[in-house]
Amino acid sequence: MKKRVSRLPGFYKDSVATRRHRVGEAAGIDVDELARVLDHGGLDTATADKIVENVVGVHALPFGLGLNFRVNERDYLVPMVVEEPSVIAAASNAAKMVREGGGFVAEADLPIMTSQVAVHDVTDPDAKAARILEARDELLREANASIPGLVERGGGAREMEVRVLTNELLVVHLYVDCRDAMGANLVNTVAERVGPRIAELADGTLGLRILSNLCDRRRVRVRCRVPVEALATPSLSGEEVARNIVRASHFAESDPYRAATHNKGIMNGVDAVVLATCNDWRAVEAGAHAYAAREGAYAPLAIWRTLTEGDRLLLEGSLEMPLALGIVGGTLRVHAAARLALRILGVETAQELAMVAASVGLASNLAALRALATEGIQRGHMSLHARAVAIAAGAEGDEVELVAAAIVEAQEITVDAAKRVLKGLKA
Ligand code: MEV
Repeated sequence: MKKRVSRLPGFYKDSVATRRHRVGEAAGIDVDELARVLDHGGLDTATADKIVENVVGVHALPFGLGLNFRVNERDYLVPMVVEEPSVIAAASNAAKMVREGGGFVAEADLPIMTSQVAVHDVTDPDAKAARILEARDELLREANASIPGLVERGGGAREMEVRVLTNELLVVHLYVDCRDAMGANLVNTVAERVGPRIAELADGTLGLRILSNLCDRRRVRVRCRVPVEALATPSLSGEEVARNIVRASHFAESDPYRAATHNKGIMNGVDAVVLATCNDWRAVEAGAHAYAAREGAYAPLAIWRTLTEGDRLLLEGSLEMPLALGIVGGTLRVHAAARLALRILGVETAQELAMVAASVGLASNLAALRALATEGIQRGHMSLHARAVAIAAGAEGDEVELVAAAIVEAQEITVDAAKRVLKGLKA
């Protein structure tokens, strides 16, 4: 197999057509296919009408590529779907710094999802919990009988746990290895199948039977080490930037108001990959934030520290979060752009996808903190935003960059200012 590369120097300056050639070449995908799928977002109205209800059309978003990613010594070109300017550039830039320290090191748990069955009106719930646990083998057998396809693919219900929540309510967790699927349908099927028997064993009233999005048995951990020199800006040394990033981390660790924004920066990267691969971003968000609050206070998903290695000072970031992503099933079956995204990525398992998505999250966090800890995000952000403003003012083709540059220079990034510049250009 051809060695994959994720460094494509000058990519941001290329035309869309040239970029497609370069990606096609790097990922071994026919350029006509890239154009055919990506010009229309990979979904037509007739197909959309088969996916959800009351369809009147489709809604497009930009599909870009995160560059420079190296995870566990492998290069990845990372499809990112996002409407916010600067997210892709910032993540790519941070990934380049991380590369200088050897890239991201990641590991993912087995793809274990949690299926919940609640039972109410239980008398003596501790005794009932013991009775349910005695039926563990029967319940796991029954669970697996409801998902024969998954069992055939090497997955299935693996373990069971009973939690007594109040003096009348208990909940049974069945832990299901979903292999390469996100798994929501599989674990919901399991819960509905074993629910009645569990209620019978508990001699109570059957309650909800549904997955938990706090899939904390399906976590991913990513670490990176950046030589501080790579962080330097024209006005600050790498050591100063690293120190400011660690301070920003302490701030997030001490304050849920800041932790929420810190985590939003992480999710900028994670969600862009989740969307590009047509995974369930609401599920990912719910799991991330529930996990961030697991200790009772809302906390950052990633933290940063400095460390020395010999005579080198390094900035180390580490992120841990639950991440339920699939590379088979769901909307993927019908969404051509999502399938293409997976081919560009070249991931072979859902765990590998989770490790890459989490690395993009850590890169996004690093980029945001470095900008915030130095000149602030507005200058870079607004100059990218200026292009969208220029388009909103009616600029087309080459006019877009010219108008954007002019309104950034004038420090007046508004549609009115862009219209004035455009009028001048046309005249
Ligand atoms: C903006 O989309 C994300 C940031 O606010 C994240 C952060 O503050 O860390 C820049």
